[in-house]
Amino acid sequence: MIQLIKGFHDILPGDSEKWAYIVHQARTALERSGFREIVTPIMEVTELFQRGIGAVTDIVEKEMYTFTDRNGDSLSLRPEATAGILRAVVEHSMLRTESPLKLYTIGPMFRRERPSKGRFRQFFQVNAEMVGDDSPLCDAELISTAFSVIRDVGAQDLMIEINSVGCAECRPAYKDTLREYFRPHTQALCDDCKRRLETNPLRILDCKATECGVLAGKAPLITESLDASCREHFTEVQRLLELIGVPYRLEPKMVRGLDYYTRTAFELVSRDLGHSKAVGGGGRYDGLLQELGGPDQSGIGFAIGLDRLAMSLTDAQFTRNMDFYVAPLGVAAREVALQMVTELRNAGFSADTRFTGKSLKSQMKTADKIGAAKVIMLGENELAAGEVTVRDMKSKEQITLPIRGLAQRLEGDGI
Ligand code: HAM
Repeated sequence: MIQLIKGFHDILPGDSEKWAYIVHQARTALERSGFREIVTPIMEVTELFQRGIGAVTDIVEKEMYTFTDRNGDSLSLRPEATAGILRAVVEHSMLRTESPLKLYTIGPMFRRERPSKGRFRQFFQVNAEMVGDDSPLCDAELISTAFSVIRDVGAQDLMIEINSVGCAECRPAYKDTLREYFRPHTQALCDDCKRRLETNPLRILDCKATECGVLAGKAPLITESLDASCREHFTEVQRLLELIGVPYRLEPKMVRGLDYYTRTAFELVSRDLGHSKAVGGGGRYDGLLQELGGPDQSGIGFAIGLDRLAMSLTDAQFTRNMDFYVAPLGVAAREVALQMVTELRNAGFSADTRFTGKSLKSQMKTADKIGAAKVIMLGENELAAGEVTVRDMKSKEQITLPIRGLAQRLEGDGI
């Protein structure tokens, strides 16, 4: 038997209804907020992610699915959507016609992480970007949109954790402060963090290794190193979130796993998940567009992990529904059943049948399983009389109707 690739997963019927519901709610919430869909390829040239996400991030260093194409180009499956969306914004000069641009995409991302509960190697994100405006008003609008996506899907106990990770002017000094703090403890750091001490000491704050975590707990906070304009921007974001009633909590140790963030960074945490992993995250990026060959303009975005969001919802609300189950009894009834489901579907009803020749009792079980509201019984006697019996599965009431013009009749009756 050939099996799934490790860390990849199938979404089977039963879960796919929940999936479709989440995607529908997310799409509705985003379009209600003025975001328009963009669909970019799942594969891009590797350099895009190296330049966009940062060459010394875990994602780019260790987790990308990268291969050399037959003509020698290095290509990678996208580990996230932001870099690809911004590539498209630059390539199609989209900011010339609209600013800020509000774009969203929904699709699979690929990261070769260690699989665990809620962590996959192929996972889906709904990702939104608001590009071309650096005002704190946009931060508040975008964070509020992220909140409404999760709220409309029905996840409970949501919290938004926010931080400011500073900018190109004030962050270098903070990195030096961190290096000074961690350097006397270098031997206690894990091998990754020994390297991070030079390349990107902020990442040590996020390390899961116990000893690094203990040291990080006492490390100087970035909020104490922000320059005046970053501090002002961050204070304003907080004020605006309060103004529009979006709940948040300050999380001064939060650093994100991608290098492009400046100023506001945030994560969406749901207690429903029962573990500490974030359902979503995002933040502002001041230099990313320019890094990718675009104008010197800022943007802010977020991504919500659909797999994790789906895990946080109970199954109860996702039952199967069908207007009609047509139950043919006897061989002759089967093709009439085929005609009947075709007519019913053409009339806009959902209808299903089985040609397996099972007993009425067994077919009633099938009708129950598929959530049929009504069963149309097609026995030999009924067939001979040109009639069917329609049974309401809830009230158990039955009526007899002529086969000819049945779909129109049911439509007319508002059944
Ligand atoms: P991220 O925090 O790397 O941000 O991912 C966002 C969300 O994707 C996570 O909170 C999580 O729900 C989900 N996710 C990430 N990795 C996995 C995984 N291995 N398995 C399952 N779910 C996962 C970004 O990707 C940024 N591009 C967000 C952004 C958009 N920032 C600005 N614009």
